[in-house]
Amino acid sequence: MILFGGDYNPEQWDAATWASDDALMRAAQVNTATVGVFSWALLEPSEGSFSFDWLDATLDRLHANGVRVVLATPTASPPPWFTLAHPDAMPVRPDGSRLWHGSRDTYCAAAPAYREASLRIAAELGKRYGSHPALAMWHVHNEYGTMCWCDHAASAFRAWLRARYRSLDSLNEAWGTAFWSQHYSSWDQVLPPRATQYLPNPGQSLDFRRFWSDELLARYVEQRDVLRSHTPDVPVTTNFMGPENLVMDPWSWGQEVDAVSVDHYLSSVSPLAGAADIAFVSDWARGVGLGRPWLLMEQAPSTVIADGVLSHRSPGRMLADSLGYVARGSDSALFFQWRASRAGAEMYHPALVPHAGADSRIFAETVALGATLSRLGEVAGSVSVPSSAAVLVDAASHWALQTRGLPSPHVRHLDVARALHGALWRSGIGCDVVAPGADLSAYPLVVVPAVYLLSSSAASCLRSYVAGGGQLVVTFCSGIADEQHRIWLDGYPGVLRDVLGIRVEEFHPLQPASSVGLAGSSGTGRLRTGGLWTGRLWTERLRTEGAAVLASYDSGDLAGLPAVTKHSFGTGTAWYLSTLLSDDALTALLGEIASAAGIVGSPPRVSVTRREASDGRSWLFAFNHGDGPASVPASGVDLLTDLEVTGTLELPPGGYAVIRERTR
Ligand code: GAL
Repeated sequence: MILFGGDYNPEQWDAATWASDDALMRAAQVNTATVGVFSWALLEPSEGSFSFDWLDATLDRLHANGVRVVLATPTASPPPWFTLAHPDAMPVRPDGSRLWHGSRDTYCAAAPAYREASLRIAAELGKRYGSHPALAMWHVHNEYGTMCWCDHAASAFRAWLRARYRSLDSLNEAWGTAFWSQHYSSWDQVLPPRATQYLPNPGQSLDFRRFWSDELLARYVEQRDVLRSHTPDVPVTTNFMGPENLVMDPWSWGQEVDAVSVDHYLSSVSPLAGAADIAFVSDWARGVGLGRPWLLMEQAPSTVIADGVLSHRSPGRMLADSLGYVARGSDSALFFQWRASRAGAEMYHPALVPHAGADSRIFAETVALGATLSRLGEVAGSVSVPSSAAVLVDAASHWALQTRGLPSPHVRHLDVARALHGALWRSGIGCDVVAPGADLSAYPLVVVPAVYLLSSSAASCLRSYVAGGGQLVVTFCSGIADEQHRIWLDGYPGVLRDVLGIRVEEFHPLQPASSVGLAGSSGTGRLRTGGLWTGRLWTERLRTEGAAVLASYDSGDLAGLPAVTKHSFGTGTAWYLSTLLSDDALTALLGEIASAAGIVGSPPRVSVTRREASDGRSWLFAFNHGDGPASVPASGVDLLTDLEVTGTLELPPGGYAVIRERTR
């Protein structure tokens, strides 16, 4: 079964509306409701006293209606009584100001009172609902990611640092405290990076992000373990924010959840950009779970919030986009939220049942989506076939590149990762998202997009990969510093210079609106497909040390100097991009590198992915994102239409199909 439904908040409604919800959920074939995410104040109206009547009634009613429940612990929004009883557990900002209740996510997760209260409500829920027949899954908290700079956080940070560095000498060395008289002579002097006069210490800031990722993970794990003690067989998850908000390190969190769950809100109205975004986020979610099927826990029905303005996806896109996630490993299409609220901070947030009610386009599309997903039940549980290309994504590099005082505030690891992933996607090449240090041996092509921090061991993995025959594409701002944000010396990127056959002397970042032209160099200009190449965001003064030059800067101080290079290393090849090529150039270049690596992609702007079950059955998902018709080799039955496909699947522009393949 593909899970379909979403956040359901019946506590905002009366009994007549519940009856309507039941009928509409049946009409839409909703099978899953996420309940209780923000219900703490109702469930525990005063400290230590509980009131479960409405939740009992809700679970019974949903069960009677054939809807399974993903039951949340409500710890993302402590009740007002909690603030008054435990003011020390309210979060403190870097400038020392303390926040009050009145919104949500207002707590310090390192505060003992918050931990205690969270575990208490989680235990009560585990005890009361552990054997309820509606319970399908536990949903701990909501979108972990809240950081705090208070004294509780400070002491937890110090404990974390002691475990990491063992001695103050190591910490001083790692943080470079010889600069600006920051040397620590006692652990008590070490603080979170609170507001200070000028630039903060980069190592301290980076470690604080790491600390919070681990601290929040510990909070998740302790709730999870309480729930597991009541229900050892019920899966436990927590919904991650999409990769855009890398507040925690997904690679460590992915191993602690029974299913990776992700919330994804589109930010572009363009169908093409939306489809590329869905592909990136889905590949990321699958990668975080090391290939397991994952859950799209939240998306917005029919809408996109772009630059703070609500826009509608054109009719039919909610369905096509939902299939886009399933094609890349999701076993669900869940939404925030079922019914649009009448009041409250998110009253204008779109819902499957909008303010207009069931007599609306959006609800009609909800019914159509439910009917379509009900045809795909057999796909659930199957795993995505691994891709030919891998893109490295690294939370620590993302955080470190946000440090103030770097050469350009405009370089974001995730933006560069998206740009390269998008280029592969446009070329019809499937991608997995992997962590630095992952086993790369199965991938003919690996892309390293502004992976700014590389430890010597992560760099060794890349070195062995190329030496053993891999094709490696590395961009600017990769391998510049070690895992503590200390520069690798003697020319950038110090830790990869031998593999790339280059040496960078100076960074010349560009203003956001600027770009540079590139010229193909003699002899190797054959890669210059796709018209004039341009670069933006970043340039640099680099010289080759064994690499061939594929394109050079055509003007300015860097005129004639290399911009894109290629180097044979062992039996593989390493390519270097010293600037962010325009989308067309990137697509052309990566497409050529992929085909040289023996990767056969689908036609441009056609996305073809495959999921396989352990018994050998397989399903092919094909989408035509282009402007013209497309043909895809396929044989089997289209689950959306029940039509046979023999040999070739024809897709009109915007068309898609899910083929149960004949045994291949
Ligand atoms: C999510 C959150 C939901 C809801 C939604 C609105 O981040 O988990 O509770 O606020 O955003 O887009």
